[in-house]
Amino acid sequence: LWKLHDFAQQTIAEIRERVGNDRVICGLSGGVDSSVVAALLYQAIGPQLSCILVDNGLLRKQEAESVISEFTKHFKTDLHVVAGKEAFLEQLAGIEEPQEKRRRIGYQFVECFKAEARKIEDAKYLAQGTLYPDVIESGAAIDGPAATIKLHHNVGGLPKELGFELIEPLRDLFKDEVRKLGLELGLPEDLVWRHPFPGPGLAVRCLGEVTDDKLDVLREADSIVVSEIKAAGLYRSTSQAFAVLLPVRSVGVMGDARTYEDAVAVRCVNTDDFMTATWSDLPYEVLARISTRIINEVKGVNRVCYDISTKPPATIEWE
Ligand code: XMP
Repeated sequence: LWKLHDFAQQTIAEIRERVGNDRVICGLSGGVDSSVVAALLYQAIGPQLSCILVDNGLLRKQEAESVISEFTKHFKTDLHVVAGKEAFLEQLAGIEEPQEKRRRIGYQFVECFKAEARKIEDAKYLAQGTLYPDVIESGAAIDGPAATIKLHHNVGGLPKELGFELIEPLRDLFKDEVRKLGLELGLPEDLVWRHPFPGPGLAVRCLGEVTDDKLDVLREADSIVVSEIKAAGLYRSTSQAFAVLLPVRSVGVMGDARTYEDAVAVRCVNTDDFMTATWSDLPYEVLARISTRIINEVKGVNRVCYDISTKPPATIEWE
């Protein structure tokens, strides 16, 4: 651990030296990587840091709120929250094709980020949470297969046209090292151990066209999955756990009445590198609780399935 202590101190000193009196923008996603970058920058240059969080309306239940409250608790610095929900939903209206959904979300993210970054007048640098595997992948991705499976865009994928000089303090690190560094920097455990969440958010878990109503249903189901996994003490031993809202309705019965409602798939996987994954062998009673709670508590859902597909040939996300 003390190697990471040295790494942190050295990186902070280097950033301080490089940035001088200039201002740095850092995109926040709520994930580990961008939080660790923000923490490093905060310790290095404090008040010269401006952070941008694009609330795309595709985050999990209470996620934007909790990122904002955690952030303001730990960092006394300039935070810009972009309320992007309407713009993202407009982009997504009528669009069913997964790659096109991703493309439009990526486009809108850049638009929102650019517009906000322009308001921060004296900014010279942009800090990004690029990790070592991203560095390798982007080199290989030019015509490698990984790039063509799914379009990826994150906080780390902002175009050069923004005109900033990049600061990428995590370029030499793997994910587990970033987590340890986060702990070293005093970030809370539940943030450091958060499961990865895709840049396009719930849009790739709300199959077919994305609407506000469907997102609400998905958010409720998803929050039950995560809270039951946590309650069972399984959050750390699983790599990702989430709900997917299927574009399928099926017949059910409630009391004397017939129902015809949505189906939800629960996806829970174990993986070391996210290139291959196995479905998590969850205890039946945990699955039972998740299912009962979703069907009882989430209006409009009458069926729950557990996804028992490995990657490959399935991917972790459904879109
Ligand atoms: P797949 O679905 O390709 O996902 O098996 C592998 C891992 O990548 C995450 N994922 C994304 N992460 N931006 C991200 O930052 C994206 O566009 C994106 N798409 C998928 C997925 O959650 C899993 O951890």
